[in-house]
Amino acid sequence: MNKDILIKTVARLVSPPKGILAIDESLPTCNKRFENLGVPTTEEKRREYRELLITAPEIEKYISGYILFDETIKQSAKNGENFTSILRAKGIEIGIKVDQGTVDFLLHLGERITKGLDGLSERLQEYKNAGATFAKWRAIYTIGENIPSRDCMKENAVSLAKYAFMCQELDIVPIIEPEILMDGGHSIEECYKITAQNFDILFSKLQDLRVFIPGVILKTSMVIPGKEAKIRVSSEKIAEMTIKCLKEHASKDIGGIVFLSGGQSDKEATLNLNAMHQIPELSWPLTFSYGRAIQNEALQSWAQNPNDISGAQTFLVERAKANSLASVGEYKK
Ligand code: G3H
Repeated sequence: MNKDILIKTVARLVSPPKGILAIDESLPTCNKRFENLGVPTTEEKRREYRELLITAPEIEKYISGYILFDETIKQSAKNGENFTSILRAKGIEIGIKVDQGTVDFLLHLGERITKGLDGLSERLQEYKNAGATFAKWRAIYTIGENIPSRDCMKENAVSLAKYAFMCQELDIVPIIEPEILMDGGHSIEECYKITAQNFDILFSKLQDLRVFIPGVILKTSMVIPGKEAKIRVSSEKIAEMTIKCLKEHASKDIGGIVFLSGGQSDKEATLNLNAMHQIPELSWPLTFSYGRAIQNEALQSWAQNPNDISGAQTFLVERAKANSLASVGEYKK
């Protein structure tokens, strides 16, 4: 493990005013989004859409890295140029989702654990050869009656720690993504409690496996009420509770922290990040790694007018710019 390489990659990924764009939807997720908008679910359509995202003019002003899916890292633009070469030429880091989705957690109704450790070292080496400098592994937790259990948190934390260790062995920066889902009617206080508990377990497992913490990026959900919660809260409250939770339960040595959007509206995701940057003395670089909250408008526009590539790219770059401003606390409604 070369700590210097890891630290430098982390710094490039989270340096202001940039953030990370996640375009790593798995085949089922991408196809579901296409289906909802009447787009054919073919490999060529997915390639076409990702080409639009990757070639968006000047997006490199706002985006430091793209997280790709296995299919995408091997694809090329219509003119034959590899997607990875296009990104590299723009100075954008190449990331890769390496988990292989979730399965039911045995004897734990309603809970999921993430798989993908089998053959991971070989796959990471392949991705490294293709130019990847960082990777992502996502674990999910649903808030419900007596869930998530500590068992589920531990099981996922061990996998996240093993994955992070394997990445660092190859000088690849691991993004560890524990996502508390927004599904359900839980309050912001319940979300705080679970997020805090989960961070405690996760960071202790990372330490047990001697993961190099400054060479890790934490990609987390915000502390936020569930989608069906009766009491809604302001961006300021979300920012205040999220930062409190991170300060008290995440390692202060972590290289950087980025957020997923997790089903928030585009504007909410931007406003919430902006509100965090009004809080003084954040202990780490803090930015976005949104998927939907940056892509939504571009995808809808392209689905309606597949020939208007530059129209869709304009939407994408506008959302990237808004979040870039939010990442330094300068976004104005
Ligand atoms: O794993 C989730 C993605 O990387 C982020 O997606 O911003 O749509 O939640 P999202």
